[in-house]
Amino acid sequence: MAAPKVAVVGAGVIGLSTALCITETCPSCSVTVLSDQFSPNTTSDVAAGMLIPHTYPGACNSKQWFKETFTFLFAISNSPEASEAGIHLVSGWQVFKNTPKEELPFWSDVVLGFRPMSEAELQKFPQHRFGQAFTTLKCDCPPYLLWLEKRLKATGVQMHTRKVADLWDLHSEYNVVVNCAGIGAHQLVGDEKLFPVRGQVLKVHAPWVKNFIRDGDGSTYIYPGIHRQLVPLQMLGGISPGFQLPPWKGMMG
Ligand SMILES: *[C@@H]1O[C@H](CO)[C@@H](O)[C@H](O)[C@H]1NC(C)=O
Repeated sequence: MAAPKVAVVGAGVIGLSTALCITETCPSCSVTVLSDQFSPNTTSDVAAGMLIPHTYPGACNSKQWFKETFTFLFAISNSPEASEAGIHLVSGWQVFKNTPKEELPFWSDVVLGFRPMSEAELQKFPQHRFGQAFTTLKCDCPPYLLWLEKRLKATGVQMHTRKVADLWDLHSEYNVVVNCAGIGAHQLVGDEKLFPVRGQVLKVHAPWVKNFIRDGDGSTYIYPGIHRQLVPLQMLGGISPGFQLPPWKGMMG
């Protein structure tokens, strides 16, 4: 049988990681990534990349996913590739105005050094009544996407700029099609439940900021990053899930 031809649709962090997994698991497969956008123009490029999982109701293997992701990225952060891949450990505080229902989140024993903050520490964060201190990983997405692309090219994976309008268009050319379209799935497969929300992120040069500070609801945060030239860039951000932008066209409008 000829080598199976696999198309991965989408070149964000999921598409590129999936393509890499497939080519490593099946070296004889001929893998092609098809996407209308590549880094730096993907949704992943603007993701903060902090490893703090959300709780997805009904997703019973969230912890397993998080654990595997943490182990995988931790190994990179501990390797000579860390700087180029943009992956580093970062310590800080997650603070809450009201004590959350789950004081001990499911991921507390996956991150490093998780502990509740003391009263004395909380006094440093006015208006906040509860907090958690821990060390997690941050994956700076633009360098990480380029690092993934480089690894894919080195293993012979093809990357084509192509807007796929219908997955069936790939039917005659490929044996397997993997949908990693992300937000693009709204149009590609008519996933009406998927829509972008408005967010604002500022990147500022503040190399003295070494720790993350995050509001427990995830709406505001300060995340320290690393630059490819090793000039730290901090991210300050906020999103409001209520700010949907209908009608929207294309990726992030
Ligand atoms: C990203 O978008 C800009 C503006 O449309 C374009 O000039 C550039 O070639 C794009 N980069 C890639 C890698 O596709």
